[in-house]
Formats: sequence, C-alpha cells, structure tokens
Amino acid sequence: MLAPAALPQLSDPEPDVPPARPEPLPLGLLADIAAGIAEVPESWRHLVCHDPSQRRPVRLLATEAYEVWVIGWTSGQHVRPHDHGGSAAAVLVTEGELVEVNLLGNRRRLLPGNMLRLGPGVVHDVLNREDTPATSIHVYSPPLSQMTYYDPDTWQPDETVRLEHESPVLSGWHGANLLHPARVRAAS
Ligand SMILES: [Fe+2]
Repeated sequence: MLAPAALPQLSDPEPDVPPARPEPLPLGLLADIAAGIAEVPESWRHLVCHDPSQRRPVRLLATEAYEVWVIGWTSGQHVRPHDHGGSAAAVLVTEGELVEVNLLGNRRRLLPGNMLRLGPGVVHDVLNREDTPATSIHVYSPPLSQMTYYDPDTWQPDETVRLEHESPVLSGWHGANLLHPARVRAAS
C-alpha cells in the first residue's frame, strides 16, 4: 500500500501585531529641526493657512522618525485639551502670540522665537487669544499616530482619534536640502 502523500502543513496565521513604532528623537533635536525650518521661511511661509473658519495645519515634511507641520491660528482659535499619544514634540512660534494651557491650569505665553519641548503623554491646549494671526512650527517624533482629546471642563479623556498620515507637501529631496546643516548655518 502506498503511503499517503504528505499533506502540506498549514502554518499558524501570523499574529496581528502592529509594527514597532520608533522611539521619539531627543527633544533637543526636535527643537533644532523646528529652528532650522524657521530659518528658511521662503520654503514654507506661502503654505501657511490662516482661515478664520477652521485651523488648517499643513504637513510639511515627514520621515519615519519625525514629521513637521506648520499651523496658522486666527484670533480665538485653539485645539482643545489633547495629548500627542506616544510622540514627543517641539513647537516654535514664528509670528503672533499663542498661549499654552496645561493640565494644572498653568499658562505659558508663547512669543515669536519661544519653543515648547513636550515629552510623550503631555496634556495641553494651545490658543490664540490675540487679535492678530499667529503661526507655529510643530515637530513630532515619531509622527503622530493617535491623539486623545479631553473634556475642556474636567480634562478627563473624551475620545482617542487615530490619525491617517497625509503626504507631506515638500518632497524628500527638498526637505533634505531644507534641513542640511550648511543651509541652516548660512541662514544664521
Ligand atoms: Fe499639542
């Protein structure tokens, strides 16, 4: 009697494990990137949108390790209390004035040149309480994948939103040129 042909072995399905996210880059490096972007406004200034009907953040650059956004704020605009999930952040105001409010109710006035350095898990809100528009550069590492929003009265978690990654406005080669140290030194 012939031996039955060996049946192919079905392997166990791959567990549905999401790919590991990179660790946040050091806050000092995120701040340096934000400062470098601020040095070359001709590359991004025309992209900033100050729309009184809603904030329209622009995703300027993105790599696996970090992303850069520029955000225009008209009078009265704010986010709402939120965190940045597992991402660290640097926020640099380039024009106008913003106010950061944290979980304890402390307020920080942010003038042009002022930089926020935020570790993962920080809960805060950012507002433009002035009559004039403001602009800020935001660097997140790793790129934002989810944010939790909090009740503005109780600051208790309200909802967690997963974020789809938009294509960055500036292409890779343009971004690399923008951040080249020689370019930053030449501008300073
Ligand atoms: Fe934030």
